[in-house]
Amino acid sequence: MKTDILAASINEAPADVLIVPVYRNESVTEGPLAPLDAALGGTLGELVDTGDLHGRCDEVTYLHAPAGIAAKRLVLVGMGEPSSSPLQQNRRAFMTGIRAMRGKRHGAVAVADRGEGSAFRFGEMAAEAVAIAAVDLSAYKTEDRNDLSVESVLIQTTSAREPDVRRGAERGRHVAEGMNLTRSLGNEPGDRMTPPILAERAAGMAKEHGLQCEILEESKLKELGMGALLGVARGSEEPARLIVLRYEPEGEVEGETWGFVGKGITFDSGGISIKPREGMEWMKYDMCGAGAVVGAMSAIAKLAPSRRVIGVIAAAENMPSGRAIKPGDVLRSYSGKTIEVLNTDAEGRLVLADALTYAQELGATRLVDLATLTGACVIALGHVYAGLMSNDQDWANDILAAGGLAGEKLWQLPMDKAYREQVRSDIADIKNLGGRAAGTITAGYFLREFVGSTPWAHLDIAGTAWIEDERPYIARGASGFGVPTLVELAAPVAD
Ligand code: BES
Ligand code: MN
Ligand code: ZN
Repeated sequence: MKTDILAASINEAPADVLIVPVYRNESVTEGPLAPLDAALGGTLGELVDTGDLHGRCDEVTYLHAPAGIAAKRLVLVGMGEPSSSPLQQNRRAFMTGIRAMRGKRHGAVAVADRGEGSAFRFGEMAAEAVAIAAVDLSAYKTEDRNDLSVESVLIQTTSAREPDVRRGAERGRHVAEGMNLTRSLGNEPGDRMTPPILAERAAGMAKEHGLQCEILEESKLKELGMGALLGVARGSEEPARLIVLRYEPEGEVEGETWGFVGKGITFDSGGISIKPREGMEWMKYDMCGAGAVVGAMSAIAKLAPSRRVIGVIAAAENMPSGRAIKPGDVLRSYSGKTIEVLNTDAEGRLVLADALTYAQELGATRLVDLATLTGACVIALGHVYAGLMSNDQDWANDILAAGGLAGEKLWQLPMDKAYREQVRSDIADIKNLGGRAAGTITAGYFLREFVGSTPWAHLDIAGTAWIEDERPYIARGASGFGVPTLVELAAPVAD
């Protein structure tokens, strides 16, 4: 998709469709909408009078062939009441506007800059919003496809803001491409996204963007003694993979090496502790943490920060079989710690344990892991916030700040030492089950045992990694959650 910036009045933007965000009960005679209303000969005012335009959140008001402006169609999208995050509101309006055009011919889309907030961030957000909304993933439909046909994006702004909008849009494109990669990996059905396929896709991405990639197959994992990862994979016909992606800066290397670790369970049936049948199909998304690492690494490669970043993905399929691990089994993890498996459905923490150890061995001095780890996180935070747990408050603060800038909501949960009790095992160093109380935190606490004193943060993205119900601003399926925050962390904006 081509992205261009146009420094001109909103009325001059040539496009098949021009998207303009509108606040609730906003004046059309003063402020950003005034020139548009004037060019249209007072049409906006009429729309308000007839009750066609309120500016309610996600409201779409559509004008065909509006006289007085260059665009062939005008789409006004409501943002609701103004809030303290106008860019987020503009983002959602752009996305809703694009998606409202599904099935129509609208190759050239223009979006209007209302001049709110930093021009760089506006450009980033606008390019990102359009690229995310323009991808709808009905990949396996052979008919009744509701395709979007966006070919180019024109971001309309003022000449004063134009240079920053342009720089921001470049970054936004990279982030969105990373997110769309994460989304497409996540949306693949389990039989088309096995650990070996995930590894191949990661390797392909690495080759394309100049990252180093190493895939550890089962013989190597056995040699290394990755008993936790191999234990989870044992019930499946699909072999496990440990995937390593490395970004090496071209010039001088600055700062510490960061390790991004992803849970890559390509399908989670629960194993012998099998899940109920209802909703099990969602468990194809159990590799979305891994997907976020792949997507973020692709964006980082393009943004080329001066920091070293390592991505480590533990990929396995969790299945029941005659060979599968059983409740009561004890696994020896790569770290040497032994784990009593009390529930084979608590497999994410097992594979992550080995990946976290390996990431440290590869030289990562600060860690972030992403995982669709617990149903309890969905109960606690729903589909709005991801849970954040950490052993280092400064590092947690850095990640919270990055999430804030990137527009992803993260909520920190406590890591009190008292939670350690719940994962104490009678026969091994630790057990993989912490009981019903504080299930998200005890899972986090389990992981904490494998990072030692290395600053580490864990993002439980169980509620945010995919979208179950169609929303006006985004398609169902994998969301790409985590990519913006990781990119913001590894390649912060210099402004
Ligand atoms: N992948 C699931 C967690 C999950 C469930 C994510 C629903 C998103 C939606 C994870 O492997 C799991 O099964 N966790 C168990 C842990 C329990 C056995 C301690 C859970 O949450 O029930
Ligand atoms: Mn599970
Ligand atoms: Zn799982």
